Amino acid sequence: PLSAMEQEDAIRQELGSLHGIPLFKSFIEGWPQVKAFQARPDDLLISTYPKSGTTWLSEIMDMIYHDGDVEKCQRDAIYNRVPFLEMKVPKGPSGVEQLENTPSPRLVKTHLPVQLLPTSFWEKDCKIIYMARNPKDVVISYYYFHHMAKIHPDPGTKAEFLENFMAGKVAYGSWYDHVRGWWEKKQEKMLYLFYEDMKKDPRREVQKILHFLGKELEEGTVERILHHTSFQEMKKNPAANYETMLPTMMDHSVSPFLRKGISGDWKNHFTVAQNERFDQHYQEHMAGSDLHFQME
Ligand code: A3P
Repeated sequence: PLSAMEQEDAIRQELGSLHGIPLFKSFIEGWPQVKAFQARPDDLLISTYPKSGTTWLSEIMDMIYHDGDVEKCQRDAIYNRVPFLEMKVPKGPSGVEQLENTPSPRLVKTHLPVQLLPTSFWEKDCKIIYMARNPKDVVISYYYFHHMAKIHPDPGTKAEFLENFMAGKVAYGSWYDHVRGWWEKKQEKMLYLFYEDMKKDPRREVQKILHFLGKELEEGTVERILHHTSFQEMKKNPAANYETMLPTMMDHSVSPFLRKGISGDWKNHFTVAQNERFDQHYQEHMAGSDLHFQME
């Protein structure tokens, strides 16, 4: 049983269900405010399934918004510079409260599946950047994240976690539904990116983002953005690496937030049998979609 303090801090609690999507109970409590959230036309939404490169994309976007000014991007931790829309824990301001106090133009982070996005984002025709990552790397990253970020339930063994992930019994539900749902909504005002592309050619992806924003930056500025948002730089940057988070919530000694930052790490973790089973499951759940992933 959890101690009173653990309950109050929303530590290692079972997930609740929000319209059929497994989610932290504290987030569900804050749902009425999220649903009624008033987006502004110049908000830019960063949307991802967890562990798909949200923080990386957030840092890139904040750097673009500040013309590559490193100092300005160290003004606060990434989770305050790019508030997390549906975040709510017993202590401290909610994501909605943070956003209400953020001057425009705002960058907004969400992990919500497309059908749960507050309608005002569509009504205000906000720009959206979605970033997807292959599910094998996501599940391994998510497994380690469960160990260090104690808002999650205990992940169990790797094999158990893999089963839960495939069944969509983790926070934010099925990865398949998430990536496919957002892919199907892809329209002029949405840019759909892949973590694997960003790893392979970050310059090209940053140029895609700039084009999407209708913004031009000097070559030297792009260079600075790429350097500042590299894995090595972000890992040592306290404004980007989450080490300023309360240790009761995140324990970096268990597994750092910026853990490996590569594509294909799943190969160090999946057994041959698990990989075969996963591939089969993947084929079934992606059937009929023109959305394709690079597994490394
Ligand atoms: P790993 O656990 O595989 O290392 P999110 O921000 O959505 O929670 O995603 C976290 C994942 O993105 C982690 O993956 C983390 O290391 C990786 N990541 C964060 N910044 C990165 C960067 N600059 N380059 C590459 N990967 C990065």
